[in-house]
Amino acid sequence: MTGDGTRVVHAGLPAPVPGRPFLPGPVFAAPYHLDPVEGPGEDGYGRPDNPTRRSLEAAIGELEGGAVRAFASGQAAITALLLSVLRPGDTVMLPADGYFTVRAFAEGTLRELGVDTVLAPTAGPYPSFEGVRLVLLETPANPGLDVCDLRAVSVAAHAAGTLVAVDNTTATPLGQRPLELGADVVVASGTKALTGHSDLLLGYLATRDDELLARATTWRAQTGGIPGAFDCWLAHRSLATLDLRLARQSANAAAVAGLLAGRADVTGLRWPGLATDASYAIAREQMRRVPGIVSFDLGSAERVARFLAASALVFAATSFGGLHTTADRRAQWGDDTAPGFVRLSCGIEDAADLLADLTAALDEA
Ligand SMILES: Cc1ncc(COP(=O)(O)O)c(C=O)c1O
Repeated sequence: MTGDGTRVVHAGLPAPVPGRPFLPGPVFAAPYHLDPVEGPGEDGYGRPDNPTRRSLEAAIGELEGGAVRAFASGQAAITALLLSVLRPGDTVMLPADGYFTVRAFAEGTLRELGVDTVLAPTAGPYPSFEGVRLVLLETPANPGLDVCDLRAVSVAAHAAGTLVAVDNTTATPLGQRPLELGADVVVASGTKALTGHSDLLLGYLATRDDELLARATTWRAQTGGIPGAFDCWLAHRSLATLDLRLARQSANAAAVAGLLAGRADVTGLRWPGLATDASYAIAREQMRRVPGIVSFDLGSAERVARFLAASALVFAATSFGGLHTTADRRAQWGDDTAPGFVRLSCGIEDAADLLADLTAALDEA
């Protein structure tokens, strides 16, 4: 296999044709011309079929190692999986410390549909999988950054006949390949580091299981949660720099974690790449690189506000994985975190500038 930089630059591109672009432009079409005799071929109508979307799916599929279906957002992909697999009377196991909207969906819509939810902490211990139809793992978990042993949990879940899904948003397929570690299906938000420019929402599902793929394809065609052609094209273009962006984000996170570890006014520091972090050993064993997200506690909401007001480089914003360094006080969104808990997403600025800015802002706060 070629290196990550080579893979992302070439992923999903058509064979070279003289006079044609490397990455074909977006195809904007609702209906396509039909053969009046044969009827619909590969492209008949834009909800099920779009060549720009197929190119992006081919690219992500090369990186995840499975067949991909792209969705309008990460939530569209995750709910497509949950609703196309789960039936009344089923039980789903979800991360207690993962993305909160998934738990909210389970507590609302899934409960109303007669699906029970069991919560498990990402770092374990995991309860018995007996009677669990599907387990969704999120590793590293957002926002606490615990990591779970995908091989071990997949083996235990499969022994009970449980399907294993992994939310690969935070790691991206360059950070870990869950399908190779035993998962049946990957779901992810492509809104974050995968595309990384903070200018689009995207989701995807990847699997090697033909039945799951068929269910997801039918679900998407019938419920219509597709990403538009322009967003697919932007996403494919952005994917080409994933290796470079992740490398800089991860290096910046290492520098920032080193800085914060030395400050007495910062507590609860988490970054799975720090040798002292609770997730370090398993992250090192199963991940190919550590993402650029660091979390910590500044003690109070007021201190976080002063820190953000004092910083010249850190944008107050939610989401993560983008070019710009951003910080989000998660309690304001309803996460079960302390009032001063911050998730800092390191961008691709120069480390020296970030360290100087963070130091000055923390001193002032
Ligand atoms: C881990 C994780 N999964 C899924 C999602 C949902 O993705 P989207 O916002 O693209 O719907 C998010 C969004 O923050 C996330 O952090």
